[in-house]
Amino acid sequence: MKKIVVLVSGQGSNLQALIDACQLGQISAKIVAVFSNKAQAYGLERAKAAGIAALALDANAYQDRAAFDASLADDIDQYQPDLVVLAGYMRILSPPFVQRYAGRMLNIHPSLLPKYPGLHTHRQAIDNGDSEHGTSVHFVTEQLDGGPVILQDKVPIVPGDEEDDVIARVQAKEHNLYPLVVNWFVTGRLVMRENAAWLDGEYLPAPRHAAD
Ligand code: GAR
Repeated sequence: MKKIVVLVSGQGSNLQALIDACQLGQISAKIVAVFSNKAQAYGLERAKAAGIAALALDANAYQDRAAFDASLADDIDQYQPDLVVLAGYMRILSPPFVQRYAGRMLNIHPSLLPKYPGLHTHRQAIDNGDSEHGTSVHFVTEQLDGGPVILQDKVPIVPGDEEDDVIARVQAKEHNLYPLVVNWFVTGRLVMRENAAWLDGEYLPAPRHAAD
């Protein structure tokens, strides 16, 4: 059975979707540990409730980002994961950390990348008058939110939408999208090669949408 480590910073609704998908057999792998940079992250409670090791590291206890990431990676590697999944992990990763998990680390980002990397994506989409928004799953590279996109899903933005409306709509899509892509990876269908995503031996040149 392939092993997955998940990193969270907050609510962990995507983590919950992954836990549920593993339990339902929709992901052919086991989540062996959940780490957080926030001791209070609700995601850690979700992990504990599912009987998964839940660990927090406090960035204040480390001299710098490199030291924190090195310690985190050493702890992660105790679990020998095949895949590291970032699920609302809101801390910038140092290059050595990214290199250590190159080709086996995924992130989900709430925008139709390459649009809106970084923070406050829903707010930006509303403020710019966009009629649609969405979410992207991508391999993690050293470029922030810039690694090869694997799959995206879209949602409409309608007049009168508040930020929370769009967040909820996007997250509902994420909870289906992420388990699907994670299962592609753990079943060997999805790989990163030559800084691109490949599915079933086919190059994924441009962002794909779940509806396709
Ligand atoms: C998700 O919507 C995810 O796309 C976003 O944080 C949320 C976490 O929610 N991630 C990022 O913004 C990363 N740049 P969750 O904790 O309920 O899964």
